[in-house]
Amino acid sequence: MAHPTVAILMGSDSDLPVMAGCVKVLEQYGIGYDIRVLSAHRSPEEAARFSREAEASGFRVIVCGAGGAAHLAGAVAAHSTLPVIGVPLASSPLSGFDALLSTVQMPPGIPVATVGVGPMGAANAGHLAAAILALSDPDLRGRLKAKRAQQTEDVLAKSKDLPAKLRELLKS
Ligand code: RP5
Repeated sequence: MAHPTVAILMGSDSDLPVMAGCVKVLEQYGIGYDIRVLSAHRSPEEAARFSREAEASGFRVIVCGAGGAAHLAGAVAAHSTLPVIGVPLASSPLSGFDALLSTVQMPPGIPVATVGVGPMGAANAGHLAAAILALSDPDLRGRLKAKRAQQTEDVLAKSKDLPAKLRELLKS
C-alpha cells in the first residue's frame, strides 16, 4: 500500500472532533493520511523530529490543527519545506481569535497556509491539501473538478427549493 501523503497533526486529542472534518474530506477524495497528536509546547522535540523526517517518510502536505497559543503549524514549518496548512481551533475562551493570530502571521520565508477557524477551516484544509496533491496527480485533479461541479449543482438545486421553503417559513 502507498505511503499516506497527508500528515494531520493536532496539539491535543481534544482537537480530534474538529480535525475529523479534515479526515472526512480527504477520505472523500481517496487521499491517504496519517493522523497523530504532536504539540509544539508539550512534545516539542517529537514535533520537530517528525517535521524534519516528514518528506523523506513520504508525506507531501502537513496539516496542523491547534488552539490557544497555536504554534504547531509554525513550529512544523520551521523544520520542513513541505506545504504546511494551519487550522486555528476555537478551544480557548478567546474563541479561536488567539489561534488565528498565532498561526497566520508567519515571518517571510517560513509560510503557513492558514485556513479559517474551526470546522470550516478543518474541511478547507482537506480541500487545499487535495488541490496541492492534484497538481501532480491527474486522477485526483479529475475528482477535484467533479466535486466542484457537484457543489455547483447542489447550490443551484437549493435555489430552486427556495419558494417552497419560504412559503413554509411564512406560514408560522
Ligand atoms: C492546544 O491547547 C491544543 O491544540 C488544544 O486546542 C488546546 C487544549 O489542549 P488540551 O488541554 O485539551 O490538551 O495546544
